[in-house]
Amino acid sequence: MLKENISDEKVKETLRDYLIKNKKFTPDKEELKRVEDRLLWGRNSSLTIPLLRQLYDLYGFEDEKTSIYLNFIKLIEEHFSLDRNIIEVAGGPIPRLSFQIASRQTKGKVTVYDPLMHPTDYNLDNLVIKKELFTEKTKVPKDSLLIGFMPCEATEVLLRVAHRRELDFIVALCGCSPNNSEGYYDDEVWMNNMEYLAYSAVRDTNLGELKHATLDDYDDPYPILYNKRLMKK
Ligand SMILES: C[S@@+](CC[C@H](N)C(=O)[O-])C[C@H]1O[C@@H](n2cnc3c(N)ncnc32)[C@H](O)[C@@H]1O
Repeated sequence: MLKENISDEKVKETLRDYLIKNKKFTPDKEELKRVEDRLLWGRNSSLTIPLLRQLYDLYGFEDEKTSIYLNFIKLIEEHFSLDRNIIEVAGGPIPRLSFQIASRQTKGKVTVYDPLMHPTDYNLDNLVIKKELFTEKTKVPKDSLLIGFMPCEATEVLLRVAHRRELDFIVALCGCSPNNSEGYYDDEVWMNNMEYLAYSAVRDTNLGELKHATLDDYDDPYPILYNKRLMKK
């Protein structure tokens, strides 16, 4: 949710300015229109359109207590650690989740993938920006943590890579079942399939157990899946 001490006018003016300057980087004109029509959505909800929530975070408009990204980071800290190599799959147009993690890290680095990323000028040695697709062939350092915040169709590749290379993972699902050759036309069917992929990953490897978390206090209705390694006896 937006900070109360920032005026509606300031939010609208800043975001409109950004959108005009960066129009050419958003090929999805429908998404652009949805953002332009809802510049103040963050007044009522912590979960908005990716570009919108990333702009709120970029300009410091987001209230830290209710920020969906900062609360997802708390989950990562609770169940894993930020101080290790982290790969974010599908960071979105402005990779604010990765930026916020990299700003808090004391060890390791964060690498974020998304082919639709806008140009960024973050000066953090531990933040690596990859404006490209993350695929099953992408090289990933051993012992990395794979993370995804609503990565849409990239959820599947994230879970397959976690399975095949036995990598820790935490992924917040979304209601964006890809309408593709796999036949995922229905969000519930797709989510069940993702759940099954996550379950298979822990079943077949030493990743431990499949666990669930939620950010429903911050308006996110979808489950968050992660693995919990078992303590060595
Ligand atoms: C809903 S958005 C991501 C939201 C973002 N993580 C956030 O925090 O709001 C989905 C993104 O997935 C990206 N994407 C889809 N497949 C991908 C892949 N294989 N590798 C990397 N990014 C991918 C798209 O370009 C799009 O930006």
